Amino acid sequence: MNYGCILYQVENGIAIITINRPDKLNALNRQTLSEIDQAVRAAQADKAVSGIILTGAGEKAFAAGADISEFASFSIDKGTDLSARGHAIFNNIENSPKPVVAAVNGFALGGGCELAMACHMRLASANARFGQPEVNLGLIPGYAGTQRLVQLVGKGKALELLLTADAIKADEAHRLGLVNHVVENVTDLLPKATELLQKIATKGPNAVAHCIALVNDYFDKEENGFQNEIETFGSLFQTPEFKEGTAAFLEKRTPNFRG
Ligand code: COA
Repeated sequence: MNYGCILYQVENGIAIITINRPDKLNALNRQTLSEIDQAVRAAQADKAVSGIILTGAGEKAFAAGADISEFASFSIDKGTDLSARGHAIFNNIENSPKPVVAAVNGFALGGGCELAMACHMRLASANARFGQPEVNLGLIPGYAGTQRLVQLVGKGKALELLLTADAIKADEAHRLGLVNHVVENVTDLLPKATELLQKIATKGPNAVAHCIALVNDYFDKEENGFQNEIETFGSLFQTPEFKEGTAAFLEKRTPNFRG
């Protein structure tokens, strides 16, 4: 697959998707969004891939938002379509059965912050900045930022960030729970994200996928996550993965979940 706005590589079972428009601070134009979607789906379908990293090229930006030049003259219908498409792409990331980590290497503003929030975990370098500056444009977040920011930082802080358009530093994002870990340098990000995903790759992939789905159920008004947990827990007792995990424990050896 040839991509024009992203880079895609698989290294040691981890797919790395790099938004590659550093001159435009990796702003998410339509092509970039489509390519991210294709690459995420390719990684999800690839049996050799156990986890996915999303990052930005360069040391300045993860993604500085949706591409403002592209939507400046949009109609109501086009704006609605853009938002719906962004929601669908980001929902697929959030619902990925394989873990997705955002490695935030600079500005994560607007759609960039929303993309990072759709990932399951976020790592940031110390120079990273997070914010939802859409109100500066007379706009609101359109890729579920109003929803996922509340989930991650709570209502009061989410409203402060949304209403002031302030960008916060990595250490504050960490303090608020928006970021899982902060590393000093951009060059430390991919090794840290890889280490995290490789640890998860030693666990039962089916169990990992169910944990992701059940945590997502908590925020889904249509789902009863408590009941789903009971049913999922029971259903796992007949899986080869469970048999391998318990056998390995009883035989005092490391489980081999991936054959
Ligand atoms: N959409 C389109 N282009 C963008 C962009 C965006 N969201 N963010 C940055 N760019 C472009 C700039 O237009 C500029 O392009 P040019 O060199 O062709 O003029 C280039 O990226 C570099 O950006 P610049 O503004 O010169 O960098 P800076 O260091 O002075 O400022 C920011 C960095 C992030 C503060 C500033 O780029 C910015 O405010 N971006 C918009 C953030 C935003 O509102 N995002 C939400 C969009 S809904």
